[in-house]
This record gives sequence, structure tokens and C-alpha cells, in this order.
Amino acid sequence: MSPLPGKTGNQRMERFQWCEAFKVGDGTVDDQHKRIFALLADLHQDIHGKHAQLAVRETLKQLLAYTQRHFADEEALMRSVEYPQFEEHKALHDELMDKVWGMYSRCQKGDEDLSIELLVFLNDWLTEHILEKDRAIGRYIRELG
Ligand SMILES: [Fe+2]
Ligand SMILES: [Fe+2]
Repeated sequence: MSPLPGKTGNQRMERFQWCEAFKVGDGTVDDQHKRIFALLADLHQDIHGKHAQLAVRETLKQLLAYTQRHFADEEALMRSVEYPQFEEHKALHDELMDKVWGMYSRCQKGDEDLSIELLVFLNDWLTEHILEKDRAIGRYIRELG
């Protein structure tokens, strides 16, 4: 995985935070991406909070469930416009979900380090995925007119 871009134009990219550079141009997709980053920020706080264990597991579960729902909605959008790279894009979603649910079940056993690893992994994966893959959907839809 290539390193995170530090800057895009004048915008600094912070971890666990949605920024304008992530804009796809579809209102629902953008709102869902914002919510995902808000949940990542919540999880980041929980991990460093006092009552970590339970809160981390709860937020993590919510985050993964919400991400899964977002993927389903994004896939429905791609199908509705007959997006040519649908299969390839969906395969990336499926691969991520397999990996993070696997990590989640190991977190359930109380591995705190793993929850931090999962948080950072998910943040970096989503950042790259949104910038490269999701924004391409937005461009395709705009070109359709
Ligand atoms: Fe996607
Ligand atoms: Fe997305």
C-alpha cells in the first residue's frame, strides 16, 4: 500500500477525518463516507478512553456493520448506472469485509493492540479506496451527464 498523501492542494489530510478531497459527488455516498470517518474518530477516542474494552468492541462492531451497509448501497448505485468496473470494485469491498470481520473476531478475545491496528488499517484502506476507486464512480456518473 502506498503511503498516504500528506497534502492535496491546500488541504491537509488528517487521519480519522473526512475531507473535501474525498468528495465523490453523490450525496448519499459522501454522507456515508463522512459517517464512516466519524465512527473511526469515535473508535480512536474509545481506544484511548478509560473504559476501552467494551466501548471499543461496540464501536468497532457499529463501524463494520455501517461500512458493510455503505458497500451494499454503493454497489446498488454502481449497478443502477451499469458501472463497467463493478465486479472489480465489489471484489475489493468483499475482500476488505472478510479481512476486517476476521480481525474483529480476534479483537473480541480482548486483543487491544489489534483494535488499534484495525483502526489504522481501515482508515488507510478507506482513504486510498475512496480517492482512487469511489471517486472514479463519481467521474463516470458525471460523464454520463
Ligand atoms: Fe467503494
Ligand atoms: Fe465508498
